[in-house]
Amino acid sequence: MNAAWARGWIRALPSYVAPPEPNAPGLAPLHLNESPHPPSPRAIAAAQAACAGVNRYPDVPGRRLAAALAERTGVPAARIVFGAGSDELIHLLCQAALEPGLSCVMPAPSFPRYLSGTRIQGAEAIAVPLWGDGANDVGALAAAIRHETRLVFACTPNPPSGGALTVVDLARLAAAVPPDVLLAVDEAYVEFAPPGADALAALAARAGNWVVLRTFSKAHGLAGLRIGYALCGDDATAEMLKRIRLQFAVTAPAFAAAEASLADTAHLARNVAAVTAERARLAEALAALGLQVWPSAANFVSATLPGPAAPVIAALRAQGILVRDWRDARFPNEIRITIGLPAETDALLAALRALLHG
Ligand SMILES: Cc1ncc(COP(=O)(O)O)c(C=O)c1O
Repeated sequence: MNAAWARGWIRALPSYVAPPEPNAPGLAPLHLNESPHPPSPRAIAAAQAACAGVNRYPDVPGRRLAAALAERTGVPAARIVFGAGSDELIHLLCQAALEPGLSCVMPAPSFPRYLSGTRIQGAEAIAVPLWGDGANDVGALAAAIRHETRLVFACTPNPPSGGALTVVDLARLAAAVPPDVLLAVDEAYVEFAPPGADALAALAARAGNWVVLRTFSKAHGLAGLRIGYALCGDDATAEMLKRIRLQFAVTAPAFAAAEASLADTAHLARNVAAVTAERARLAEALAALGLQVWPSAANFVSATLPGPAAPVIAALRAQGILVRDWRDARFPNEIRITIGLPAETDALLAALRALLHG
């Protein structure tokens, strides 16, 4: 039946295809850029303890976690807004900024929520191709801004390519986006990038509105609990998000786990070191198979196959190894592989070797 009640542009959206059920036995889940390692035991204990109080609604502003993050980042607690993953915050930014007749500039390919968030508002998406090295093209992003543009997304490191922006590029972008346009820099994978290239320093010098998006889903290994945050450059921007968010979307166990995970710096460092070491091993092995490997500063690596990726991805899937294509017609030969456990990397490499070289 036709959902005639829905807005036309909602009816025109593509159907959502859910990934396979998580934690299915026998699968190597190298498709969602999750952490292959469990979260900090302190985070698990904190979430469990918080469960004893879930007869109450959670603390809407997440005061304790906001204070801890304010101390880390220098962004005042009142300008830190939490969401059920940074996914929700991207959606909120689109909701606050966009409507039919307005536009949003974004890198492509990149995280698909920028595009879907824009389309859900009936606004126009202006997609800007990446640099050849897979990082965002900051000059082209700024040049694509039109008078009706209200929001610009940048993403560093950028999925599915893995390329990261330099501080110089971030500063260029911060200066080039007009002050009345919101610049949102998504740093979901920042912990895996070389130190010193985070966006906060560059954005602090920006004249206009900005937001940095981060998440506990990746390096902190809390994807299933759903918590991310927006560091806002000014009170008014934070206020817009606070007005429209679903007030109780972030649960008390998620706040508690995030706070404990943030405090367990040794666990985070061990996780990040394990993932970046495995990333180097995977990249080297893919290159040894004769593939072109995209430089990655994230918890995944992309490679260019000699032919279309689709049959290779299907063949890997038949063996229980889940990887992704780039979901972009301009890149039919690319596969994106999340860094998994060493045994999963070994299984993937053996399967790829057999498929490509018989
Ligand atoms: C670039 C980027 N931003 C945001 C997200 C959303 O993450 P979450 O909603 O789990 O915080 C992802 C998830 O893969 C991502 O790749």
